[in-house]
Amino acid sequence: MKGIILAGGKGTRLYPMTKAVSKQLLPIYDKPLIYYPLSVLMLAGIRDILIISTPEDIGAYKALLGDGAAIGVRFDYAVQDKPRGLADAFIVGEDFIGIDSVCLILGDNVFYGQSFSHILEKAVSAVDGDQGAVIFGYPVSDARQYGVVEFDTDMNAVSIEEKPEHPKSKYAVPGLYFYPNDVVGIAQNIDPSTRGEIEITSVNNEYLSQGRLKVQLLGRGMAWLDTGSPDGMLKASEFVEAIQSRQGFYVSCIEEIAWRSNFIDDAGLKKLGDALKMTDYGRYLLSLMED
Ligand code: G1P
Repeated sequence: MKGIILAGGKGTRLYPMTKAVSKQLLPIYDKPLIYYPLSVLMLAGIRDILIISTPEDIGAYKALLGDGAAIGVRFDYAVQDKPRGLADAFIVGEDFIGIDSVCLILGDNVFYGQSFSHILEKAVSAVDGDQGAVIFGYPVSDARQYGVVEFDTDMNAVSIEEKPEHPKSKYAVPGLYFYPNDVVGIAQNIDPSTRGEIEITSVNNEYLSQGRLKVQLLGRGMAWLDTGSPDGMLKASEFVEAIQSRQGFYVSCIEEIAWRSNFIDDAGLKKLGDALKMTDYGRYLLSLMED
């Protein structure tokens, strides 16, 4: 399975913070926002990753992440010249996806929770075992700004609506989607919505109507944090800081995940730690090998 991180957009809702800096490069506590979705792909065992951003910002992502060799993954980069919608990622990424299945994660989505890797591994095996697409449902107090999934009395998904004024459930669809290879063809045939975008919600509805969509609910023990406003970003930073200082384990530390997943060995981790040893982050990396 391949992975795509969509890190485009103008971030206008966060101006002036994002006037000159891409949103997904802003910090959530001690690391760039994009580290959080990247860590999710890595926890799913995905090592071929395409970063899509704007012509203005793509260079900054290359400067931050390079070719991926240092953390045992392969990064490719592609430009989306206009914000044509989330499903455009599969059109921009067509050659990169090739004949594989694909996981799309939005560059501003932060997840944290016990057994999350297990949930991700199950999604990968469902898709690669020909069981259709897998998306998630997460209860939120106000679902109006998200894709919202409606269920029947047996908790089977019956519809998904994009940013409904009157949500039919409290289950928002997070920006993490697992698809078989035919998502590319499906995305190519989607009509733009009234806001002129090819919506990921239309892709999901297509799988739903084909009876090939699994909506897995994420429970109360999972955190899916909002980073769509200054307030959301502050709260997400505080959440990460609270977990890290209490447990002494870092949240979404891509170098640690690479090492624990055997993408890199001790020498690889030491090199990364040494390069940052003037910071708590670097010292944390070096300390991992001592425990
Ligand atoms: C997008 C999707 C929406 C999804 C959300 C998750 O909305 O269109 O369905 O629930 O991401 O972050 P956006 O936040 O890009 O407007």
